[in-house]
Amino acid sequence: MADALKIGVAGLGTVGASLVRIIHDRQESLAVSCGRAIEITAVSARNRDKDRGLDLSGVTWFDDPVTMAKNADIDVLVELIGGAEGAARAAVEAALERGLHVVTANKALLAESGVELAAAAEEKGLLLNFEAAVAGGIPVIKAMRESLTGNTISRVYGIMNGTCNYILTRMEKEGLSFEDCLKEAQRLGYAEADPTFDIEGNDTAHKLAIMTALAFGCEISCDDIYLEGISNITQEDIRAASELGYRIKLLGVAQRTEGGIEQRVHPTMVPHDTVIAQVDGVTNAVAIESDILGDLLMVGPGAGGDATASAVLGDVADIAKSRPGTQTVAALGRPAKSLEPYRRARMRSHEGGYFIRLRVADRIGVIAAIARRMADNQISLESIVQHSTNGSDEAPTKTIIMVTHATTELSVRNAVSSMESDGYIVGKPQVIRIEKP
Ligand SMILES: NC(=O)c1ccc[n+]([C@@H]2O[C@H](COP(=O)([O-])OP(=O)(O)OC[C@H]3O[C@@H](n4cnc5c(N)ncnc54)[C@H](OP(=O)(O)O)[C@@H]3O)[C@@H](O)[C@H]2O)c1
Repeated sequence: MADALKIGVAGLGTVGASLVRIIHDRQESLAVSCGRAIEITAVSARNRDKDRGLDLSGVTWFDDPVTMAKNADIDVLVELIGGAEGAARAAVEAALERGLHVVTANKALLAESGVELAAAAEEKGLLLNFEAAVAGGIPVIKAMRESLTGNTISRVYGIMNGTCNYILTRMEKEGLSFEDCLKEAQRLGYAEADPTFDIEGNDTAHKLAIMTALAFGCEISCDDIYLEGISNITQEDIRAASELGYRIKLLGVAQRTEGGIEQRVHPTMVPHDTVIAQVDGVTNAVAIESDILGDLLMVGPGAGGDATASAVLGDVADIAKSRPGTQTVAALGRPAKSLEPYRRARMRSHEGGYFIRLRVADRIGVIAAIARRMADNQISLESIVQHSTNGSDEAPTKTIIMVTHATTELSVRNAVSSMESDGYIVGKPQVIRIEKP
């Protein structure tokens, strides 16, 4: 049997501790399937005294992951610290500089610096594997990077944040408010104490940026993503969606259009009879549409120690199975220097159906005025429903719910802003995009 593959694990938190435990418990079966043993020879975390329930006997401890990357007796650095900058980035750079393969679950780092890191790895014939960075345990990176080679991908989209999906699912199933569901998610450990990054869509954006590069062979561009989170979704939206045959999900969507590549993260109405609409709770789902294979949908655990460690372990095993001089899998699916510059499609050119919910003054002529504004902007309606709004308001109001046929974002924005200037709208209009498979 070949020499053991020696790995150094930087970060022993939720994912790192699971990985160390799994490798320890499955040493024999891993050695058989990889043709060589996988041995953890070094680890690094901040607090040496923390009881992690791990057997670290015979493993060298480093307080500093960069020192570990530079000096430890390892072939692979596994970075499980997190964060686009700081210790994680410095350790990964030091490892590549030294000629070590790298495995990371760090979407923030890849979204910010993935192209540079991929180029650095390729220059030295090293592998940079990051399956766990997108949709946790679901093997979406390998599918795009390797299995779909030769396909032209037209659209990738998915539910990539378990916290948001958990909140939206509970809002729908139990009629609870966004705030109550968020508190519950925090109590159960599904949401951070500061949940902004998840609920405002930034976490999904990081994952989407990585998928976009793999899908379309372009440079990673996280700053060009249109971003809207779920904190404005109300029970009224959830109920209206259900009445109209839709469910609301936070989707990340990247698609090729004539104007360039569209990248967007926003609450989205999906037809309730589609598989993606049925993905509940913290589960993730990623759909890839391509010309040779057709439609692929992968559903599974998108987070959690073991599920994420499973993806990290797969990446480590790929390195164990590879042989020196044969490391030909480019990190981003093609050589970094042949990635095309990212060409951004403007969000205002996005085409699709829209759900528009307005609260309006209950007076004669309002419906006609709304219809006129829609017609002025060449928007045709699939349906329009009005409900009386009871409440303590002095002036009576009505809720108008419209679903449009395919139109552009610009037309919808112009129509809504004209209606706001007309003066009969009460409160803030709600606009939710509709996505169809
Ligand atoms: N958790 C998930 O479900 C999940 C899913 C997909 C991807 N990921 C990604 O996986 C990575 C790790 O996530 P996690 O949830 O395991 O994080 P975590 O539980 O917060 O653990 C982070 C670990 O990094 C260590 N660390 C932090 N700063 C350090 C430094 N300067 N030097 C050395 N060690 C340092 C911490 O040490 P101490 O323990 O001593 O504080 C801790 O062990 C992140 O990139 C995350 O985005 C996580």
